[in-house]
Amino acid sequence: MPAAVLIGAQWGDEGKGKATDLLGSRLDYVVKFNGGNNAGHTVVIGDEKYALHLLPSGILTPGVTPVIGNGVVVDVEVLFEELEGLEARSVDVSKLRISANAHLITQYHRTLDKVTERFLGKRQIGTTGRGIGPAYADKINRVGIRMQDLFDENILRQKVEGALDQKNHLLVKVYNRRAIGVDEVVDELLGYVERLRPMVTDTSLLLHRALDAGETVLFEGGQATMLDVDHGTYPFVTSSNATSGGAVTGSGIAPNRIDRVIAVVKAYTTRVGAGPFPTELFDEWGDFLTEQGHEFGTTTGRRRRTGWYDAPIARYASRINGVTDFVLTKLDVLTGIDRIPVAVAYDVDGQRFDEVPVSQSDFHHAKPIYEEFPGWTEDISGAREFSDLPANAQSYVRELEAMSGSRISAIGVGPGRDEIVTLHDLLG
Ligand code: GDP
Ligand code: IMO
Ligand code: MG
Repeated sequence: MPAAVLIGAQWGDEGKGKATDLLGSRLDYVVKFNGGNNAGHTVVIGDEKYALHLLPSGILTPGVTPVIGNGVVVDVEVLFEELEGLEARSVDVSKLRISANAHLITQYHRTLDKVTERFLGKRQIGTTGRGIGPAYADKINRVGIRMQDLFDENILRQKVEGALDQKNHLLVKVYNRRAIGVDEVVDELLGYVERLRPMVTDTSLLLHRALDAGETVLFEGGQATMLDVDHGTYPFVTSSNATSGGAVTGSGIAPNRIDRVIAVVKAYTTRVGAGPFPTELFDEWGDFLTEQGHEFGTTTGRRRRTGWYDAPIARYASRINGVTDFVLTKLDVLTGIDRIPVAVAYDVDGQRFDEVPVSQSDFHHAKPIYEEFPGWTEDISGAREFSDLPANAQSYVRELEAMSGSRISAIGVGPGRDEIVTLHDLLG
């Protein structure tokens, strides 16, 4: 089973890093195909905790070749910092390969991210401030800088000049900031060239050859379905395709080569930043989920908004991504709740919606219609077989499965690498 895509089903932070790590030893390549250092994946291995932002989580598994695909936006300064952090902890990072077509995040993208957010006022997205949106905007606007541009100083200078020409007008005249000098940017970027040279390559060709040779490739999505620029809660989204289709365009691998689509979904829901969230809780249950689930962002440290499981969103994720298997995470966090509410549909101004409404106004007005399921009090972190779970936890999982559009193949019962119940082989 050579190619699988792994994506988030909700608004991010579902535990994708842990799920990738879990498959690690069976993989030859792990490919990041979208986003940049806005991602934050926590992987816990024994007593060691790793926080990855730009690098694919597979970098932690010896033998795996980590790949940054063309769909990613790369802040090279962050890349080097992250690599050095891992090297200091004896992780072998020498196999990393980066697409020559990946776009760069430069200092003017970071600046623009911050100033545009400030100007949006109460319409703010609550971005991570990493320059993600402005870098993708330049890519679509055809004024982006790609990895391969670094290797031709003339081209690099021309492209930076072209990009800054526009942006300096904006920075100075609209945002009242200082102009950014071409040399400043070019010199910084040229300083990276020698170190990057061995890493930058045609990753599409590399992955095609790997698949032809029968090797196993996992495409690991950053962000999640509801943050996807096309299918998420636009404009409260990130600027890339975080859904399974993004794995194709973001890596240069054709859709007919993909065998499995694994979606990671939390047993409840969280969201960081602004935007609609029908099951959001503002009462003590919200605090309970935040505290029990340690729901604070890996990237920005922000408190995550919390709410109950939303079945229409899981069904939507199943449909948009073609999910073959769900990994249900953080079931352990629900331990101790007497009756667990699950949104089964929405009420929109008196009308019932069983599916996520296409109209943003309807979605903003959606009130969850809940069904409640009996909870459990036993510690489930030691469960490794489905039958180890208390009867009520088993039926909670089966109810979610029936509502969510695809089978649940693994269940997270704690942050540790081995804290997992497996029902079906995710790669089999
Ligand atoms: P990602 O962005 O999807 O990789 O997820 P994050 O790493 O941002 O957030 C998920 C958090 O939940 C991390 O701190 C994980 O260590 C933790 N985690 C993952 N799976 C489980 C689980 O099954 N139970 C518990 N309690 N924590 C988990
Ligand atoms: P992982 O991969 C949760 C959110 C931000 C903001 C919006 C746009 O860890 O699941 P951006 O900086 O991307 O332009 O911000 O998207 N966001 C995430 N939320 N998990 C993430 O990544 C996220 N990456 C971006 O909070 O609302
Ligand atoms: Mg995260």
